[in-house]
Formats: sequence, structure tokens, C-alpha cells
Amino acid sequence: MIEFFYKILTTIGYTHPIHAPTTHIPVGMVIGAFIFGIVSWIFRKENLARTAHHCITLALLALLPTVVVGIMDWQHYYAGAWLFPIKMKLPLASLLLILLVFAFSVGYRATTISKQALIIYALCLLNVTALGYFGGELAYGGRAPAKLSDTTALTTDADIEAGTTLYNQTCSACHPNGGNSIKQNLPLKTAPQLVTFDTFLAYIRSPKARDGSTTIMPPFPADKLSEENAQKIYQYIVQVLKES
Ligand code: HEC
Repeated sequence: MIEFFYKILTTIGYTHPIHAPTTHIPVGMVIGAFIFGIVSWIFRKENLARTAHHCITLALLALLPTVVVGIMDWQHYYAGAWLFPIKMKLPLASLLLILLVFAFSVGYRATTISKQALIIYALCLLNVTALGYFGGELAYGGRAPAKLSDTTALTTDADIEAGTTLYNQTCSACHPNGGNSIKQNLPLKTAPQLVTFDTFLAYIRSPKARDGSTTIMPPFPADKLSEENAQKIYQYIVQVLKES
């Protein structure tokens, strides 16, 4: 069902996560509510208090769809793995819902802005800042800086660069800097499967835990990751990550 949705997006040319752009609505509205709230309080402007309240209303309405697409992205891009930023984001998002409901009910009764409302707006702001931070950690935290090794390069710089991008998109969430955030004792950098490209390819097509049982690592079949792209990722791992 979820995969079907992402397939449709891909056919119309959209291949990015959907959560990140969606977050701008609740986050932007919370920032707006806080700014309008402060200005309304300083200048005693009742109509700006109402503007702040409308911002909170929109933030509240946008929260649920934002969380839903966030969970979908998590399933699709991170295979539902319990990464640390996810563990932080889920309770923060739940807390934000409570705060926004509070902010909504407080603001509704006030004609001028109350201190109470301002404090709740500020808490919402802190909350979305933390949510944004962990979102950033998830999307960019594990990225290795591209470091192109020159003399040993078997492929062109352009291939390595493509490999870097592919790695960041498909592997680095669980294998930041060639490590392994889920099973720390099995870093990718030193994995025995890197011995040849064929061994590597066979592994990522159907990954198994060391004891042969199923593992959290999602399989990458040919329609998800072509052999050519797998090759680029492989070159990036052995030429850049292994060296670092
Ligand atoms: C959702 C998280 C996740 C993603 C995404 C992921 N992996 Fe993994 N990977 C794991 C886990 C967990 C293991 C440990 C497997 C086990 O249970 O033994 C692992 C193990 C590996 C190993 C073997 C390590 C060893 O020593 O046994 C290789 C090689 C590997 N991954 C490559 C990749 C590549 C290449 C990608 C991107 C195309 C990728 N992984 C994407 C979670 C992930």
C-alpha cells in the first residue's frame, strides 16, 4: 500500500521523502504564532493575537498529515528501523499535539494575548526546533563528507560522487560513516561481504543476519537498486569509506 503510493510519486518524477517539505506548515505556523504573539503582547494589539491563534489552528490541522507522511517515509526509507532520531521524534510529535491543543484552547478565549498563551507558544517553538534538529540528524547526520581518493580510483570521480549520493540516500541512515547504528558490532566498513562486488551484491539483494536469520536490514532488489548503482555504492564504500 505504502510502496504503491511511492511508486505513483516516482512515476510523476517525485523521488524525495514527503515528510520534510510537509513539516514546513506546522513548523512555520508555530514560528508565526510565536512572533505574532510577542508583537501582540508588546504593542497590545488584539488583532495580532487573533493572527497568532489562526497560525496555531493551521499548525494543529497540519500536524496529523505531517506525522502520517513522516511514518510513511520512515517505513519506506528507513524500513521502520528504530533509529535514535526516530525515538526522539515520536514522543516530541505527541507532545506537540498536546501543546497545540492547549495553545488552541487558551488562545480562543483571550481577546488580548495572555502570558499563558505566550508561554505555550514558546514551548511549541522549542518543541518544533527539537523536532527539526532530530529530523536533520536523520537526513544529514550520518553523511560522510565526500572524500575522493585519487590514485587508487578504479572509477571516475563522477561515479564516486554518484556513489556518495546513493549511499547517503539508501544506506547512511543505518550505516553512518560506514558504521552500523543498529548493530554497532557489525560496521559496514569492515564487513566481510566487501571482499568482492559479487559477494556484496548478493548480500544486499537478500541480507541475512550472521546466523542466517532475517535481519532488520531491508533487501535491495534490482527494481530498487540497479546493479550499476550498487556498483557505484560499492566503489564508494571500498575506495572512500574504508580509507577513512
Ligand atoms: C534500515 C537499516 C539499514 C539500511 C537502510 C541498510 N542496512 Fe545494511 N545492515 C543493517 C543491519 C541491522 C545490519 C546487520 C545485519 C545482521 O543482522 O547481521 C546490516 C548489515 C550490512 C552488511 C553486512 C555487515 C556484516 O558485517 O555482516 C552490509 C555489507 C550492509 N549492511 C550493506 C548495506 C548497504 C550497501 C546498504 C545500502 C544500499 C545498507 N546496508 C542499508 C541495516 C541497514
